[in-house]
Amino acid sequence: MLSVRDIEVSYGKSRVIQGISFDVAQDEKLVIIGRNGVGKTTLLKSIVGLLSLNQGEISLFNENISKDKAFTRSQKGIAYVPQGREIIPDLTVQENLELGALAHKVDYAEKVEEIFEYFPILKDHLKRKGGVLSGGQQQQLSIARALMSNPKILLLDEPTEGIQPNIVMEISNILTRYHQEKGVPIVVVEQNLKFARKLGDRFLIIQRGQIVADGQIDELTDELSESYLSV
Ligand SMILES: Nc1ncnc2c1ncn2[C@@H]1O[C@H](COP(=O)(O)OP(=O)(O)OP(=O)(O)O)[C@@H](O)[C@H]1O
Ligand SMILES: [Mg+2]
Repeated sequence: MLSVRDIEVSYGKSRVIQGISFDVAQDEKLVIIGRNGVGKTTLLKSIVGLLSLNQGEISLFNENISKDKAFTRSQKGIAYVPQGREIIPDLTVQENLELGALAHKVDYAEKVEEIFEYFPILKDHLKRKGGVLSGGQQQQLSIARALMSNPKILLLDEPTEGIQPNIVMEISNILTRYHQEKGVPIVVVEQNLKFARKLGDRFLIIQRGQIVADGQIDELTDELSESYLSV
């Protein structure tokens, strides 16, 4: 459903993504792993339209979206949970969720009830400001907000960063259940191998802006992860 073809992305003269191609199928959970600074966030930002391509093509359901602005891509069904969560701390949980539905053709009241089935904790904290929630709760809010738009694909950038291990596993379970029940493909950038192995069906390893290994998740051996992930 999503296709990335030979893309290159630069900041000024520095070319960060150097010819990456991959596809995401409807029934897939893809994890993208790699060390700090290899270009994982840059790759996601170029898929959602926050950075433009020097070269290559991104298509969604066989439609070339490479020139579409981020807003248009979001309207077409690409949802993005950025690194560092970026919920709005001064808005309440409810207001953050309303923002997620804003500008999308969704019935807020209906969608939010569905979201509470996956994130019951948010229902308990609806009137609290986002900023007072724990890190794990903020991450759940950030994911829930993205899902409020009823997306066709969900992209997440290091959702486990700085989160307690028990919440990490809870988030993995929630995402897996949402994927199974709603049929929404998931692409997640991660450095937490335990989470990546639990959630992913397939993996890509990125190094210096290129894919250096890929396969089914059971092919992600310790040798592979040690050579491309450990410092
Ligand atoms: N706005 C920017 N301007 C210039 N260079 C940038 C910018 N953002 C990132 N870079 C550089 O691009 C490279 C890739 O950064 P990117 O954030 O995509 O890496 P990453 O794999 O997401 O890293 P991390 O695991 O730390 O989040 C790095 O060398 C980084 O310094
Ligand atoms: Mg990053």
